[in-house]
Amino acid sequence: MISKQLAKMLNEQIGHELQASQQYLAISIYFHMKQLDGWGAFFRRQAAEERFHAMKILDFLISVDSRPIVPSVEGVSSDFKSDLDPVKASLDWERQVTKQIHDMADQAFKDKDHTSLQFLQWFISEQIEEENLMEKLVALVKSGINMFQAEPLLPTPEEDHEN
Ligand code: FEO
Repeated sequence: MISKQLAKMLNEQIGHELQASQQYLAISIYFHMKQLDGWGAFFRRQAAEERFHAMKILDFLISVDSRPIVPSVEGVSSDFKSDLDPVKASLDWERQVTKQIHDMADQAFKDKDHTSLQFLQWFISEQIEEENLMEKLVALVKSGINMFQAEPLLPTPEEDHEN
């Protein structure tokens, strides 16, 4: 049985993932408004992926008989000062999520909850990919490349990691 503390953390994580989804959607709007549709499409896919992460946690809680709470999320501005800002913010969020996942794994370990620990392994691996991806994008934007010319260098839907 899942501990109250871990169930609480997983519930909060549903909120973090949904909030990240909102943030990525706002970033996609920023890029679409600049006619950078490749960047916009990429971040819209990221938004969908974060929602998928939230659903994955929600389904896990249901499967271990712990009723999830649907958290409310805040609206997010799509106004950024430069193209680098939203990409850097994405890397910061992903690093934050990695810490949150690791904290939950620590809690599961403490609880000797092998079921939750195994569930969290998927997210631990996923975060390695997510951070690497955002690090590459930050480097790409920092290189000073024209953002339109950078679009073919973005991961395609086929190359985006599997959900
Ligand atoms: Fe769900 Fe990008 O972490």
